[in-house]
Amino acid sequence: MPEIRIGDIAIQAMAGDNLLDTLLAAGQRVPWSCRAGHCQTCLVQTLDGAVPINAVKGLNPEQRESGWVLACQCPVLENMHIKLHDPARDGLGAKLVSTHQATENTLIVRIKPDRPLRFKPGQHMVIWLDEALGRPYSIASLPDEAELTFHLKLHRFGAFSDKIQSLKPEDRIYLGAPGGHFHYDPDWQDKPLLLLAAGTGLAPLQAIARQAFALNHHAPIQLYHWHDKHGCYLEGALRDLAENHPDLTLHLRPGTELAADLTQLRLASRSTLALVCGPPAFVEQVRKPLFMAGLPGRQIIDEAFLSRQT
Ligand SMILES: Cc1cc2nc3c(=O)[nH]c(=O)nc-3n(C[C@H](O)[C@H](O)[C@H](O)COP(=O)(O)OP(=O)(O)OC[C@H]3O[C@@H](n4cnc5c(N)ncnc54)[C@H](O)[C@@H]3O)c2cc1C
Ligand code: FES
Repeated sequence: MPEIRIGDIAIQAMAGDNLLDTLLAAGQRVPWSCRAGHCQTCLVQTLDGAVPINAVKGLNPEQRESGWVLACQCPVLENMHIKLHDPARDGLGAKLVSTHQATENTLIVRIKPDRPLRFKPGQHMVIWLDEALGRPYSIASLPDEAELTFHLKLHRFGAFSDKIQSLKPEDRIYLGAPGGHFHYDPDWQDKPLLLLAAGTGLAPLQAIARQAFALNHHAPIQLYHWHDKHGCYLEGALRDLAENHPDLTLHLRPGTELAADLTQLRLASRSTLALVCGPPAFVEQVRKPLFMAGLPGRQIIDEAFLSRQT
């Protein structure tokens, strides 16, 4: 029976038990969000012993070398000695610059990290509002911009959604490491891009479009945004972008038209790449019509905004 040691505490597990479940069942306050190995909210640090490869998927080399694992993806196979994540010690300090309510349920958040961060626009990171409350959000800004920007959908009764609205400029928060596969690749310069977003799934996709132009992308980009009854929260900025970049075509559409719009999707060429982002049900709904329009699965790159209950 393997044992998990955290300081003076010893927790018994059955071989193969999930590490996150075991820690939670033993009363340890381990944060989590997606439970799918995607968001890095459930990091714990192993101080000795081997770790299963699945538990470090998506972590950067420094995180791996320091023994970090994703607890939600880690089976307990042998005795483990671990340390719980503390955002104030293990994360990057930052201050809240501003929050702006763009629509009734969309908040634009600007954050200034204590030191510059390396990231690719469209990647995501965990924002920690205190030692236990962290959620993953996609980076909507470019690296040369003064602040990090995020677009948050506000969820009724959402713990993060509630607390962020009570914070003031200059309040201290903490950031996890940027990561994830969802970003512009300079090898795509000649490929038409089809960017498909619902809700705040627009955050990474507008950043990817802006990064593409910054890197001299020279094939057409079509950006679809399906929005709720409050409209596209970024319409002005997107129209300005399209005015400066004739290769960009905008389709700002009510969400009620999504199913009909998907039947009309046409690919500019067989080398088109589709990037899809938004709630999990949206990402799922879009895959099949793209495939039917002739796009192989490997040319569809997606990011589903998994939450604690999806
Ligand atoms: C890689 C990644 C990147 C993400 N990027 C963004 C982003 O840029 N912008 C953004 O707005 N969100 C993003 N999300 C989703 C975001 O992390 C969650 O929606 C967030 O956890 C909500 O936190 P909360 O504390 O307000 O709600 P919670 O307290 O976690 O949940 C409260 C209630 O709200 C419901 N809820 C929460 N989130 C959702 C959701 N997405 N859809 C439907 N119901 C939900 C829950 O089911 C629950 O009933 C991302 C998720 C992932 C995995
Ligand atoms: S990666 Fe483990 S909860 Fe998201």
